[in-house]
Amino acid sequence: MSLDKDVERVLVTEEEIKEICNRLGKQISKDYEGKKLLLVSVLKGAVVFMADLMRSITCDCEIDFMAVSSYSGAKTTGVVKFKKDLDINPDGCDILLVEDILDSGITLAYLKNILVDRNAASIKVCAFLDKPANRQADISADYVGKVIPDEFVIGYGLDYNEKYRNLPYVGVLSPSIYADKQGKEQP
Ligand code: IMP
Ligand code: MG
Repeated sequence: MSLDKDVERVLVTEEEIKEICNRLGKQISKDYEGKKLLLVSVLKGAVVFMADLMRSITCDCEIDFMAVSSYSGAKTTGVVKFKKDLDINPDGCDILLVEDILDSGITLAYLKNILVDRNAASIKVCAFLDKPANRQADISADYVGKVIPDEFVIGYGLDYNEKYRNLPYVGVLSPSIYADKQGKEQP
């Protein structure tokens, strides 16, 4: 694939992605058996993970989507913009927020805060990737796919300026891409 040339190194292979989704799906199915599970994916980055995770969950569940944005290129603006609310009323539901990556934590803390007043039975977080080194908000994930170092990653839904979401694995974006587009060496 021509996008491969912009990848410095592969961080999570397709094989490992499958293992992660199977492991998380099993655990979530066990924990939510008999409950009213509502999977809430955060657009757009988490859609690929959501599609895999939901198919590895064996208990009843519904799905919905929320959208926010806080990123411009490889940097968070720190200001979260609310773009799309839930379609389903989460009253009485056990919400599991499905995120691609937990980085500063600002996005998920913002979303959790919005959902707290909606009478959900519970609200938990499942993050495919966790970058704890850059945490700013007081939040952690209840389910984590893989902990990664503080590097800007792309693929498996994750983008850089809306590109690379279709890469089937997670990779570290080559610093030359930042240098080209932003005149910077590191994000
Ligand atoms: P946070 O608010 O800093 O935790 O960031 C959450 C969102 O920022 C994620 O859902 C991603 O969409 C985006 N993000 C954070 N780190 C990366 C990265 O390394 N690559 C691509 N997107 C990222
Ligand atoms: Mg996201």
